[in-house]
Amino acid sequence: MARPKIALIGAGQIGGTLAHLAALKELGDVVLFDIAEGIPEGKALDIAESGPSEGFDAALKGTQSYEDIAGADVCIVTAGVPRKPGMSRDDLLGINLKVMKSVGEGIAKNAPDAFVICITNPLDAMVWALREFSGLPHEKVCGMAGVLDSARFRHFLSLEFDVSMKDVTAFVLGGHGDTMVPLARYSTVAGIPLPDLVKMGWTTQEKLDGIIQRTRDGGAEIVGLLKTGSAFYAPATSAIEMAEAYLKDQKRVLPCAAYCDGVLGLKGMYVGVPTVIGAGGIERIIDIKMTKDEQAMFDNSVNAVKGLVEACKGIDSSLS
Ligand code: APR
Repeated sequence: MARPKIALIGAGQIGGTLAHLAALKELGDVVLFDIAEGIPEGKALDIAESGPSEGFDAALKGTQSYEDIAGADVCIVTAGVPRKPGMSRDDLLGINLKVMKSVGEGIAKNAPDAFVICITNPLDAMVWALREFSGLPHEKVCGMAGVLDSARFRHFLSLEFDVSMKDVTAFVLGGHGDTMVPLARYSTVAGIPLPDLVKMGWTTQEKLDGIIQRTRDGGAEIVGLLKTGSAFYAPATSAIEMAEAYLKDQKRVLPCAAYCDGVLGLKGMYVGVPTVIGAGGIERIIDIKMTKDEQAMFDNSVNAVKGLVEACKGIDSSLS
C-alpha cells in the first residue's frame, strides 16, 4: 500500500518543523509547498538527509507548484505571516486572508479529499475563510489551536504540581486568542479536577488564576522572547497529533477549531470545541454543558471570533 501523502502549505518555521516530525514519525511522504523559492526545496533535502541516521522511510519534496500536492491525504496550512512583538493575532487578518484565498483554491483544485488543518492566524477566522474559499466539506476542515493551548496549560500545571505532564489533562474552549476559555472544572491531575486540588491545598485559587492567564498569553510570551517570529515547535507537534488521529483513525478526543452548527448553542461558525478526530475528519463535537460563568466567558470568545469573521467579509466581498 502506498504511503499517505502529507502536504504542508507554507514551509516556514512551523512548516519545516511539521515536515521533520512527519518524517520522524513515518506518517507518510511529505510535500512542502511555499511561494518562497528554494526554502521548501532546501528544507525537504535537509530533512531527507537526516533519514539515514534517523532510519525513517519517507520521501520529501519541496515545491512552488500546487500540482505537486495532488491527491494529498492531509494538508496542513501555515502559509501567511506570523506576528512580531506588540502585534496581536488579529493584526494579521488582512494579509493572511488573501493568502487563505490562494491556498483554499489550490487545495480545492488539487487535493479536494484531504483532511485540512489550518494553523495560520487569526486562527478561527482563517479556518472559516479557508473552508469558504476551498468549498471542502466542513468536517474535513479544522483549525489547530486547542491542542496547543491545552498543552501549554498542562505544562504550566505540571510545573506547579511537580508531577508528570502525562498525568495532567486540560480542557480549553473558545477562540485562539486573548478570550480563550481554559476550563478548570474539566482539567485534572490523574482525574482529580483542579478545583478539588485547590481544596486539597495543592495550589491556591490565586496561583491557578495566574496559570490560566499565562496560558491565555502563552503565544505572546514566546513572541516576546523570540522577537523575530512566533512559536513553532509546540504548534507543529499539536497539528501532527491531529493529523495522526485522522490518518490512523484513532478517534482521539482533541480540542480544535471545528465547524459548529447546532451544538453548544452555535449556528454555523468555527470556534474551539472538544471534538473526536478519526478517519471521517471531525467525527463528533462534544456538546458540553457550561456553568453560567463559563458560558459568559465562552460567549465573549464567540463574539470576538464573530467580529473577525465580519471583518473578513468586509475585506473580501466574495465571503459575504
Ligand atoms: N502561499 C504559500 N506560502 C506562503 C504564502 C502563500 N500565499 N504567503 C506566505 N507564505 C509562506 C512564507 O513564504 C513563509 O515561508 O508562509 C511561510 C510562513 O512561515 P513563517 O513566516 O516562518 O511563519 P510560521 O512561524 O511558520 O507561522 C505561520 O502560523 O501560528 C501561525 O501566526 C502564525 O500565521 C502564522 C503561521
